[in-house]
Amino acid sequence: MHIVSVSLGARSYEIEIGCSLDQIGSRLQGLGLGRKMAVVTNPTVKKLYGQRLVDSLTAGGFLVMSIEVPDGEQFKNLDWANAIYTALLINSFDRKSALVALGGGVIGDLTGFAAATFMRGVPFIQVPTTLLAMVDSSVGGKTGVNHAMGKNMIGAFYQPVKVLMDQSVLTSLPKEELLAGLAEVIKYGVICDEALFDYLGENRKKILALDIDAISHIIRRSCEIKADVVSRDEREGGLRAILNFGHTLGHAIETAESYALRHGFAVAIGMVYASRLAHKTGLCDASVPDRVERLIESYGLPTDLSALSRRPAVIELMDAMQVDKKAEGGKVKFVLPKKIGEVIITKEWDEEVLKKLIAG
Ligand SMILES: NC(=O)c1ccc[n+]([C@@H]2O[C@H](COP(=O)([O-])OP(=O)(O)OC[C@H]3O[C@@H](n4cnc5c(N)ncnc54)[C@H](O)[C@@H]3O)[C@@H](O)[C@H]2O)c1
Repeated sequence: MHIVSVSLGARSYEIEIGCSLDQIGSRLQGLGLGRKMAVVTNPTVKKLYGQRLVDSLTAGGFLVMSIEVPDGEQFKNLDWANAIYTALLINSFDRKSALVALGGGVIGDLTGFAAATFMRGVPFIQVPTTLLAMVDSSVGGKTGVNHAMGKNMIGAFYQPVKVLMDQSVLTSLPKEELLAGLAEVIKYGVICDEALFDYLGENRKKILALDIDAISHIIRRSCEIKADVVSRDEREGGLRAILNFGHTLGHAIETAESYALRHGFAVAIGMVYASRLAHKTGLCDASVPDRVERLIESYGLPTDLSALSRRPAVIELMDAMQVDKKAEGGKVKFVLPKKIGEVIITKEWDEEVLKKLIAG
């Protein structure tokens, strides 16, 4: 087991990597949690791991109920948050009763939001079951739901009490979901850690085969990087924005594809274009976009807009990026690499160069 700490004063917590599902009940003892606990999950994950987690929590002395939310991003909304509140109220949950999120980022975000808002905040525990959730969404305290007018528009910063990861659950994860998570791991390499970037290149076969040492290593480094960034900038006042490398164009691509393309795949393409933009505007040398593209391609992730179901018009993507602009109340921010392992956040990027790159 490897422990990564997220240092946030009174809201500090530990990420335990390599904690078997069967140990979770005992790992949650002695934290001052109430006896009642609700495991929030979806039918896919419940069928695979629900009973093991419930048994483990019961053996740890907790009185456990399960709440099932249908599988899919479209259920990450206020209606399902409300369904969770109702189940908790019917079962007389109080302010010490904890929620346990068993699933990927959808379940984690929804459960975290329900925990943040039920009775003004109850404890919650993340048990992530996708690679994306392990390396990204379960760490850092961003919780939320979607609104008909936009993704993640309703939410709260709310940190979990603990994040417990059993990497063996990744064996049942569809390959595309694994790849989507790997795109975020590649992101950490580019923004902060050249050694991780190189490791991903040198250990591709082992990682794709879910070799336990290799997969644990990349999860650990990703969590360490995210924990460090979040500890220094919990509410995205500045530094935390580096985690958005590849996401500015990535979000626009997701919109253009009506969310039919996985987030990680859109981010992969976004990272290549951001690296090309950095090179074309003299921020880095040509080896940077070349290396980023080669690594992404080696994992079978898309690197170019030609991979989309249709080539979006330049104006369409530029317009879709303005959503970020509105959120910031200013110019769109781009995260651009200076070299592998170092990026800058800038509003002063060259729009004409990006348009040319998008036009191909
Ligand atoms: N809070 C954050 O900081 C943050 C960061 C990134 C992404 N997100 C959010 O995360 C969500 C995406 O998360 P995701 O990629 O994990 O998708 P997801 O939660 O939809 O999971 C993907 C699919 O894998 C299935 N699954 C999960 N674990 C499995 C397992 N072990 N075996 C087999 N199948 C399994 C799920 O049922 C689902 O069908 C989005 O809503 C996104 O907005 C949040």
